[in-house]
Amino acid sequence: MVKKKVQFTETVLRDANQSLMATRMPYADFKDILPTMDKAGYYSVECWGGATFDSCLRYLDEDPWERLRNIRKAMPNTRLQMLLRGQNLLGYKHYHDDVVEKFVELSIKNGIDVIRIFDALNDFRNIETALKATKKYGNKRTVASGCISYTQSPVHTVKKYVEMCKELKKMGFDTLCLKDMAGTMSPQEAEGLIKGIKDAVGDVPVILHTHCTTGMAYMTLMKAIDSGVDVIDTATSCFSNGTSQAATETIFYALQQYGIPTGLNEDVINKVNDYFKPLKQKYIDKGLINPKSMGTDSQALVYKVPGGMLSNMIANLKDLNAMDKFDAALAEIPAVRKDMGYPPLVTPLSQMVGNQAVTNVLMGQRYKQISKEIKNYIKGEYGIAPAEVDHDLQVTVLGEGGKPIDCRDEDKKRTGEDFKKAKAELGDLARTEEDVMSYICYPDQARKFFQERKAKEENIAVYTIEEA
Ligand code: CO
Repeated sequence: MVKKKVQFTETVLRDANQSLMATRMPYADFKDILPTMDKAGYYSVECWGGATFDSCLRYLDEDPWERLRNIRKAMPNTRLQMLLRGQNLLGYKHYHDDVVEKFVELSIKNGIDVIRIFDALNDFRNIETALKATKKYGNKRTVASGCISYTQSPVHTVKKYVEMCKELKKMGFDTLCLKDMAGTMSPQEAEGLIKGIKDAVGDVPVILHTHCTTGMAYMTLMKAIDSGVDVIDTATSCFSNGTSQAATETIFYALQQYGIPTGLNEDVINKVNDYFKPLKQKYIDKGLINPKSMGTDSQALVYKVPGGMLSNMIANLKDLNAMDKFDAALAEIPAVRKDMGYPPLVTPLSQMVGNQAVTNVLMGQRYKQISKEIKNYIKGEYGIAPAEVDHDLQVTVLGEGGKPIDCRDEDKKRTGEDFKKAKAELGDLARTEEDVMSYICYPDQARKFFQERKAKEENIAVYTIEEA
């Protein structure tokens, strides 16, 4: 084994929470362990972004910004990390550049140090604005991490990934991350990729993010470490495995035997796990953790599709009383993906491809009916596809001679009005710029949250006066 230092990003507060229990962990449940986690020696703690923002407003009655500020206060010594979907921020549509810039500015102001930025299609024009804003508003601690959505296809070769990493380095990213959301990266693939990337980018730190979904993560991580990876993402052991990350303490133990330094404090990481253990049991008892998400699903390796996508398809087919079409629908996925130019199967593309495959099979004919989302994709609204979209499919959607739009043209980038408009719409419901941003990202949930917040305060006020 190479004896170079390997650092850990702890994911229990974000990705483990999101993968195992749909991000339903309230702040109150984990706040007491934060000062301990601050002493663990992690490279960073991933605690925000992804689905946390939506979940706070929609289900947990929490202000996501306040959550971030509280974590910041409790963990002054640890790099706090977020996941950002480039021009889509934390949602599914493209926002104008001024909104993206403001969001990044406020994220840093409220306590984020590491912003991991990705685009579902690896169309790097969609992560440029967020990168520039990170550089503009960042401080000494700020890290802009350029992230690649990993997938397998005839056009996704090691050479192509190495080129992508060179491009990200040239754009000015401080670190590079491979994001294997489906957990389908094998040890052999990790070896080729990490060696190739390290050779090409020199001293830029390389990070591997994978999931245990298919059971391969531990092998893949060990091979990545042996190939020179700098940082790996893991979750405290009681929140590890299944659809989550590999276990922090377990990999730490293995690396210690090899004499590989990690910077982790063994006592502290064990305490962190002790803290979360009863919480996990509580969530299982309440039905918040589905036992299915804790197992291993090797089907994803055969069909190269993420576990979540399969369960989605099964649910759809059951609803339609058409489970007998499951095998045919599964076999249809590679064809649809090829026709679409091999997009990585990450949200929202995984759902889009899965649904279209089901529709094709049920209709008994390809693309007799095409979903609105797929039409928008072919129109170019999401960015440039990794490979050419099938010609006939393009003609069906765009008409003969029709061309896709440029999702980054001047009109799409237009700035200035969104923030003002949102502020005016909210009136006195919004108290801060952060409130306005919550509203821009999730209008209905944010408005409801602000209304309830106001009502609660008025009730308290009435109560106090009566008491007096
Ligand atoms: Co993930």
